[in-house]
Amino acid sequence: MTAPLKIAIAGLGTVGGGVVKALAERGDELFARAGRKIEIVGVSARDPKKARGFAVSGFTADPVALASGNADVIVELIGGEDGVALALVEAALANKKHVVTANKALLAKHGRKLALLAEKNGVQLKFEAAVAGGIPIVKTLREALISQPVNAVKGILNGTCNYILTEMETSGAPFAEVLAEAQRLGYAEADPALDVGGGDTAHKLALLSTLAFGVVPDTGSMTVEGISAITPEDIGFAREFGFRIKLLGVARRTKSGIDQKVHLSMVRARSPLAHVEGAANAVLVDAGAAGSFFFSGRGAGEAPTASAVIADIVEVARGAFAPVFGRPADTLESKPTAAGSTVSAWYLRFEVLDLPGVLAEIAGHLSQAKVSIESMIQRGRAHGEPVSIVMITHETAQDSVERALKAIAGSDKVRARPCMIPMEAA
Ligand SMILES: NC(=O)c1ccc[n+]([C@@H]2O[C@H](COP(=O)([O-])OP(=O)(O)OC[C@H]3O[C@@H](n4cnc5c(N)ncnc54)[C@H](OP(=O)(O)O)[C@@H]3O)[C@@H](O)[C@H]2O)c1
Repeated sequence: MTAPLKIAIAGLGTVGGGVVKALAERGDELFARAGRKIEIVGVSARDPKKARGFAVSGFTADPVALASGNADVIVELIGGEDGVALALVEAALANKKHVVTANKALLAKHGRKLALLAEKNGVQLKFEAAVAGGIPIVKTLREALISQPVNAVKGILNGTCNYILTEMETSGAPFAEVLAEAQRLGYAEADPALDVGGGDTAHKLALLSTLAFGVVPDTGSMTVEGISAITPEDIGFAREFGFRIKLLGVARRTKSGIDQKVHLSMVRARSPLAHVEGAANAVLVDAGAAGSFFFSGRGAGEAPTASAVIADIVEVARGAFAPVFGRPADTLESKPTAAGSTVSAWYLRFEVLDLPGVLAEIAGHLSQAKVSIESMIQRGRAHGEPVSIVMITHETAQDSVERALKAIAGSDKVRARPCMIPMEAA
């Protein structure tokens, strides 16, 4: 009989705890699927005394020590882009141990270096849980959608942002209020910056982009926008025009390189992305002649994330081998990110004083920048009071719209910074 696969788990929080529990509860089933037993030979967390609701043995407070123990696989579930997670993963790979991780921040920053080390030492580095939780998108892009060049990958990759946008739409409450409620319910971190600022989506998009396009993971050259500027008014107007507002990570092949952006987007109500509700995640892959594929499901939480970690562990147990990013890490290209201006139709909202001539002034600036308008809504209150004017433009380059908005923002009739959101084509 094949010897058991020995694993050591660093991090016993939401994900680590889920993995320990699933292995205890479903050990026989996983034995049958993997063809060998999976045995936990060591664990690490910060607090040895914490009540965790499951039995652990082989505890060490020094996770890096696990890399020199007798485990075949190190399962890194601590988190963080540097620090102890990086030290552990580097030590494990250097000691020719396979690594399974859920850590997108680590791989978005050090992915190429770690993949090179894994491939040099003939071990695996697997990260299914790092992107979109339980959705098996990493394996799909690494191994399945490879015969045709991928044109684009778009995703709703952060459950906290999608939850907040969905709640704002349902309740009509402003961003800050919904965020506070999400924190109270445990859907948002006490420090929500990485989620609501778009950084977490950027980490995941960088990994999807590497898998889809063979570029080095890189968030540095991405444009990254969060959701805090969105208002219930914008969400309401989006509905009137037949759209919903989502935070998307979008990576596209263009003539000048791979364009990667995290931004708010008006998604057509008929797009499957528009129907992703609450904390769910989704990924849409345009795989050229092979077709378009849509995946959705739970992007975080104990069971979905542990499910992805266990799938990776079972693959290692079976001895299946695939390059970390689906192609040798030394062939990953540092393709220039397309710097060109995004061409799109745009949603524009201006908060202006309801005075004669204001509309003509806005139209004048737009026309000067060659931005033409497809439709418009104006909601009036009383003369001299603030009103919202919303316009949808025809397809226009981003820099032209920005030029017009800068001029419009300088008007004494304009009350707040104009809002500008691209309309997704599909
Ligand atoms: N939560 C999710 O739904 C989810 C989804 C996808 C990916 N991920 C990723 O999965 C990883 C783990 O996330 P999580 O939510 O499970 O985090 P978590 O609940 O905060 O758990 C982190 C664990 O790491 C331990 N730890 C922290 N610093 C340590 C140190 N210096 N030495 C040893 N142990 C240390 C903690 O120990 P104590 O328990 O003693 O404090 C805790 O057990 C992260 O990379 C995260 O981005 C999470």
